[in-house]
Amino acid sequence: MKKIIALGASSSSKSINKTLAMHVASKVADASITIINLNDYLLPLYSVDAEEKFGIPEGAYQFSKVIESADGLVISLAEHNGTYTAVFKNLIDWLTRIDMKVWKGKPMLLMATSPGSRGGATVLAAAKSYFPFMEGDIVADYSLPSFYDNFSNAGVVNRALAAELDEKLALFEDALAKVEMV
Ligand SMILES: Cc1cc2nc3c(=O)[nH]c(=O)nc-3n(C[C@H](O)[C@H](O)[C@H](O)COP(=O)(O)O)c2cc1C
Repeated sequence: MKKIIALGASSSSKSINKTLAMHVASKVADASITIINLNDYLLPLYSVDAEEKFGIPEGAYQFSKVIESADGLVISLAEHNGTYTAVFKNLIDWLTRIDMKVWKGKPMLLMATSPGSRGGATVLAAAKSYFPFMEGDIVADYSLPSFYDNFSNAGVVNRALAAELDEKLALFEDALAKVEMV
């Protein structure tokens, strides 16, 4: 059985991205899921001065170890003003001070959703272009627009969007199957 991480890149207790990440992770065949709650990684605001004075916070090392322990990553990005939530960007900034290889080459299913019709397309595009510089291996990406219209407890209700998700899941499962056990 492969170990996967589910992460909604939001600190909201009602995060729709966390909901999506957990749902999609639960559909991955033959995998055990660890859910990462970003509220467990609320780090001080990154600054060069803070790093010089206090060093890298323990939470950043802990997050890095959790990624290292996984075989694959299911991440859904919340979009705030066209980019990452501040809490997620801050975490990434600290992580890159440990090692630029933040995502450690683990196969990643990268998603975004929002209540609006663009489904977090802007933040998804930003991550698709930049995560590869952080050893992100994005094997599939998926955007779910109009979350509250297209998602219910049972999952994605729009047929076309559900079919697309199944295709992306299959790509992720294929990549996961090729990973040597950690
Ligand atoms: C400060 C702020 C900025 C936002 N900016 C965007 C945006 O640029 N694009 C968008 O689609 N939604 C935007 N939204 C709406 C979010 O997509 C919505 O709050 C969503 O629920 C966030 O995901 P989450 O529930 O996983 O935290 C914004 C929300 C907030 C609070």
